[in-house]
Amino acid sequence: MKLLIKNGTVVTPSGEIKADLLVEGNKIVKISPFIDEKCKTIDASGKHILAGIIDIHVHLREPGFEGKEDIESGSKAAVAGGVTQVCCMPNTNPVCDNAVVATYIKHRAEEVGLCKIHPIGAITKGENGETLSDIGKMKAAGAVALSDDGKSVANSQIMRLAMEYANDFGLKCLCHCEDKDLVDGGMVNEGYNSTLTGLKGSLRAAEDIMVAREIALSESLNIPVHICHVSTYSGVEIIRSAKSRGVQVTAETCPHYFILTDDIITSYDTNTKVNPPVREDKDVKAIIKGLKDGTLDCIVSDHAPHSLKDKQVEYELAAFGISGIETSFALSYTYLVKTGILTLAELSKRMSAAPAQILGLEGGEIKEGAVADLTIVDLNRKYVIDSKKFLSKGKNTPFNGFEVYGEVQYTIVDGAIKFKR
Ligand code: DOR
Ligand code: ZN
Ligand code: ZN
Repeated sequence: MKLLIKNGTVVTPSGEIKADLLVEGNKIVKISPFIDEKCKTIDASGKHILAGIIDIHVHLREPGFEGKEDIESGSKAAVAGGVTQVCCMPNTNPVCDNAVVATYIKHRAEEVGLCKIHPIGAITKGENGETLSDIGKMKAAGAVALSDDGKSVANSQIMRLAMEYANDFGLKCLCHCEDKDLVDGGMVNEGYNSTLTGLKGSLRAAEDIMVAREIALSESLNIPVHICHVSTYSGVEIIRSAKSRGVQVTAETCPHYFILTDDIITSYDTNTKVNPPVREDKDVKAIIKGLKDGTLDCIVSDHAPHSLKDKQVEYELAAFGISGIETSFALSYTYLVKTGILTLAELSKRMSAAPAQILGLEGGEIKEGAVADLTIVDLNRKYVIDSKKFLSKGKNTPFNGFEVYGEVQYTIVDGAIKFKR
């Protein structure tokens, strides 16, 4: 099977080129100014062709919380968001802490057959923070990383052992950084707006202490580590300084941390409730700077779909999380590229090449011979985010009504069109 994509602008690591792109089977076989081939053809005039987006921090909720999302609805949402590969977090029910659950996720993903889905195994059994999970067996079943996301592993000795075992199996720990005792029930950033609203605040230090601990372990053990959803200016500084010493640390952030400040919580809209919380202007500025200089390697959605009943309650009772996989590209493009902060090639690196590299996944770059995972976008298409139109079961977004640019037109996985607007 061949697929010809004509007249588009191809975004490569070195910049943008006007070219035709020929796919054969699951590979990109030719990129050239003019390709003539009698086969299925997409006219990409006025559109940009990006390496397929790779989102390494996603909650698909299956098994166990299918009311919030399942592998089918999550896959549909992913490809609508231009995402060709997803790594899904293990805080399901049962927790993905063993080979059986990891295998189930892989099988179900193949049955659905939209995007590639890679399970992330739990670091500890049931994410209980106490007993290491079946790391080797999960790796054999296809787990691509380990995380107790939703929590930190509180005990530093357990975390040390986890990093060592994970490393022996060639897996990285993806660390949700939160000192639970210090958070002490806080649910928004601690500062002026927590005082104003009466919502219990959580200090930046609750995140930074764990960022610093994971980096200290990584540095002492000489083992790579990845920091999840960085939200604080001070966390960015800790990571920048560690990188300058040569520590093998990588880090991610999410659109809500480089777009929103905690001014938004004064609405008491529970869709603004997310963990870690959105913070203040200086944090937003530092995160943008971190994305620009590479201190923050990649952008993920932390897609955390919840049902209406989990969110339509008092702020204190609402679940943490934002349904973000369908909006991450357009928000990132609008707030980082349209504003002149990143080039499109730099954004593509943060959303495709870097995540692939961090977890050793295929893809992430457009070149001859590479896998044909592609996202075709119309950068000039302006639209208003409307959560009612989400394919995800989770309609929980604080970005409803935001005007954005950069609409996903096609998502191609292994050379097959999996989404067409
Ligand atoms: O906001 C969040 N939602 N943060 C997490 O760490 C977990 C996630 C979820 O699973 O809903
Ligand atoms: Zn998390
Ligand atoms: Zn998460």
